[in-house]
Amino acid sequence: MKTAVLELLKSHRGDFVSGEQIARDLNISRTAVWKHISALREEGYRIESRSRRGYRLQGVTDLLVPGEVLTGLATRFCGRPYYYYPSLVSTNNTAKELARKGVPEGTTVLAEEQSGGRGRLGRNWYSPRGGLWFSVVLRPPLHPARGSEATFVAAVAGAEALHNYLKTAEIGIKWPNDFLWQGKKLGGILTELTGEMDRISYLIIGIGLNVNLDPHKFPPEINARVTSLRQIVGRDVDRAELLRRLLAALEGWYLVWREDGFAPVRAAWKRYNACLDRTLRVSTPEGELVGQAVDVDLDGALLLETGGRIRRIVTGELFLEGDVG
Ligand code: BTN
Repeated sequence: MKTAVLELLKSHRGDFVSGEQIARDLNISRTAVWKHISALREEGYRIESRSRRGYRLQGVTDLLVPGEVLTGLATRFCGRPYYYYPSLVSTNNTAKELARKGVPEGTTVLAEEQSGGRGRLGRNWYSPRGGLWFSVVLRPPLHPARGSEATFVAAVAGAEALHNYLKTAEIGIKWPNDFLWQGKKLGGILTELTGEMDRISYLIIGIGLNVNLDPHKFPPEINARVTSLRQIVGRDVDRAELLRRLLAALEGWYLVWREDGFAPVRAAWKRYNACLDRTLRVSTPEGELVGQAVDVDLDGALLLETGGRIRRIVTGELFLEGDVG
């Protein structure tokens, strides 16, 4: 109902609309109108009120508050419910706590900024305001050994949403889960799994995208290797619209994975990949390898041809030619 009040105010943008009219149009009491207006103000909307004239929405917020994200969200379960926080340590941590308490799959946690954002391989993830930092709880009834496939599901969903939204085919995926543009990192995925011996209890898919950020302000140790959507398109992008598209694509590819297995996900991942058929340096727990990335196998492991033989890389980090680091 709060969203309906917001929509009504938006449709009168610039003009006052009386509390009485809102109450009548939405079939709620004047007290309920007042409560919803207060809740919207708490979320960051600037709503002016004047006696005898009513309420007026002043400007649109760029915050990813529920009213902005849920209006027009074309999903059945991803993004529902949607937990919004101005700041969190890590959306993955909060999503995990909620999952433990039994929230339904699709539950999404978003923070405008993270004070302890986490990346793969135990790294920190720089997450100031202006990016997209969110985590989705999924509960696929699968064996834990298949959990790593979910990262590919999210990578394909992310690449598809970015291609469609930005109308560019230049964004690629670096195995297993980095979004790249011209060799620079635009975002990544952190998938975490909790399960029993033979069944996943829940997966947390954490997605981080450098959206309206200035890469020059990133910590010096990474600023040469990262980029942002603002840098790519030369203007700020609508984060709410992008988030809606990401959630819809994630839901779509998750259902494909559940219904048809990993094969179609793998095929799509290969179409979006930015690392196959290239010479790479790979840092693995066993040491460093240099070779040609030839394929991803049926489990998502990277197949690297090195010294005349094929090695299966299950975990590690790739460096493309010319990569720093
Ligand atoms: C990586 O490429 O190393 C993965 C980065 C994942 C970052 C996202 S931001 C939202 C979610 N919360 C976290 O703490 N990490 C993930």
